[in-house]
Amino acid sequence: MPHVIGISGSLRAKSFNSSLLRAAAALAPQELAIEIAPIDSIPLYNGDVEERTFPQAVTDLKHRISQADGLLFATPEYNNSIPGVLKNVVDWLSRPPADVPKVFIGRPVALMGASNGNFGTVLSQAAWLPVLRTLQMQPFFGPRVLVSNAQNVFDDKGELIDDKIRDKLTGFLKAYAAFLQRTGGR
Ligand code: FNR
Repeated sequence: MPHVIGISGSLRAKSFNSSLLRAAAALAPQELAIEIAPIDSIPLYNGDVEERTFPQAVTDLKHRISQADGLLFATPEYNNSIPGVLKNVVDWLSRPPADVPKVFIGRPVALMGASNGNFGTVLSQAAWLPVLRTLQMQPFFGPRVLVSNAQNVFDDKGELIDDKIRDKLTGFLKAYAAFLQRTGGR
């Protein structure tokens, strides 16, 4: 069964994107397993740290991704673009360049996102595309999950309470699972 690593690009305890990712893991079809990987222990990228002592948390995450069939990002949108927190993680994962093939090249990746605005991370998702292109990933271009006004979509405990979004997410996951089967994952 294909399994993908899910990463939320927000460190906030009550993050809508982390809630969306948990909902995706719960709603995933039988043929898809989503394993959520936390990013709290990934430091800010620093070339000096990279040379001195490569962070174990980054090495561990690279290993988990290299063993998986794909990636699923739940991305916030900050100032109409990529959130620095998640970009920082991707930047670390792309080091050293010799490891890019095993971590990224050809790896299927799907994006989804939640915001409390009206446009549900559409600009952030578009802004990720040059990064995915640079890393030679295989983006999933099926239906999109753009969760707008997320404060009305999740309750105080982070549970998904919107039936339309639940249906959309279910369809998205089914299509992503089919994409993974078509591409053979990695
Ligand atoms: C935001 N937010 C936001 N929302 C949006 O739809 N478009 C945007 O451009 C921005 N810009 C932005 C910048 C910064 C610095 C912050 C902190 C926030 C609001 C954002 O959608 C909201 O904070 C979400 O709750 C962030 O996702 P998590 O943390 O709930 O997963």
